Amino acid sequence: MKKLQWGMIGGGEGSQIGPAHRLGALADGHFSFTAGALDHRPEAGREYAQRLGIASDRTYGDWKEMLEGERKRDDRIDLVTVATPNATHFEITRAFLEAGFNVLCEKPMTMTVEEGEEIVRVAEATGRICAVNYCYSAYPMVRQARAMVRAGEIGKVRLVVTNFSHGHHGDATDADNPRVRWRYDPAMAGVSGQFADCGIHALHMACFICDDEVESLSADFASTISSRELEDDAMVNFRMSGGTVGRLWTSSVAIGRQHGFDIQVFGETGGFRWASEQPNQLVYTPVGGRTQIIEKGERGLHADAQRLSRVAIAHPEGFPLAVANIYCDLADTIRGEARDGLPGAADGVRSMAAVHTAVASARDGGAWLDARPSIFR
Ligand code: NAI
Repeated sequence: MKKLQWGMIGGGEGSQIGPAHRLGALADGHFSFTAGALDHRPEAGREYAQRLGIASDRTYGDWKEMLEGERKRDDRIDLVTVATPNATHFEITRAFLEAGFNVLCEKPMTMTVEEGEEIVRVAEATGRICAVNYCYSAYPMVRQARAMVRAGEIGKVRLVVTNFSHGHHGDATDADNPRVRWRYDPAMAGVSGQFADCGIHALHMACFICDDEVESLSADFASTISSRELEDDAMVNFRMSGGTVGRLWTSSVAIGRQHGFDIQVFGETGGFRWASEQPNQLVYTPVGGRTQIIEKGERGLHADAQRLSRVAIAHPEGFPLAVANIYCDLADTIRGEARDGLPGAADGVRSMAAVHTAVASARDGGAWLDARPSIFR
């Protein structure tokens, strides 16, 4: 099968997410890394791209140069990943979609709901794929959890409780570190700090596993380090369309919690728990029964979980392979076999609507507000 050609914008040397994309995209042989504008410093980006093996005529100084260079080629890239800082996602993603490229955009997809709605419309109008990198949804045992809910194995879901709370910005003496400070500065981060950064992963995960959408929410935001304008801690209560009650805590000052992402889903006939720090296990309890550990790679998993378990049982399968699962599903979709579960522009705009609704709710003393983007009301 012919390899697909892949390009990346951002994700330069020393970036946080760039290596996971490279490992993920290249893990299964679907893609070759063909083009890149990897850094906000043109020369550094070109030089790094060449070191990674990209031919010099496809190492670009910036994304506009890459768009012009690639759109002229007969062998143009099949997919571009946008892994730049948040405020640039909208402009780059829209430009590449309009030029007929498939895009994998990092989260958050945009800064505003209106931008998100525009991306949904442009993706529909052009017929291109716009995926959003909610990569935790591609862990095999998260797929198992979703399949169990769909198969009715825990009955109707009553309650979902999720946390994405770590302690890595909990040191007040480090609050002025430029790599930390921008996240709580509205000029750089937008309307929300921690909820837009980590909380939306947890919210997407709740929707993904429960196969439902957030309808309304009430939020309490706090800047526990007083120099911060944006929240470093948030508690968000929500209700899903199907009536499920949701609770979400996200924090960056929870010292002692490391990655800190977990989810519990409680249905009428059972419940389960998944945690990103033990991603190979789903802890399941049927009502009135014993707690069991369902293990990645074991016999009898649902098909999607089995398909995405790639190394043998008990061998760890970590974050880059979850990202690789996103790229596998993208490769299949580009080749015409659409994959259910690939997070897309609709997920991106729902997240932005939730972020803006949470900000409004927190400012209004925790008022319950409709959290759906207007295009989905
Ligand atoms: P970072 O600051 O570590 O790296 C950003 C990279 O983009 C740098 O190499 C920089 O030179 C480059 N860059 C900046 N502006 C650019 C431009 N205009 N053109 C080309 N390159 C440019 O940032 P990090 O943490 O890697 O985050 C990037 C994005 O990935 C963010 O949107 C973030 O929210 C998202 N992210 C997603 C994660 C996930 O789990 N899905 C995890 C971490 C980050």
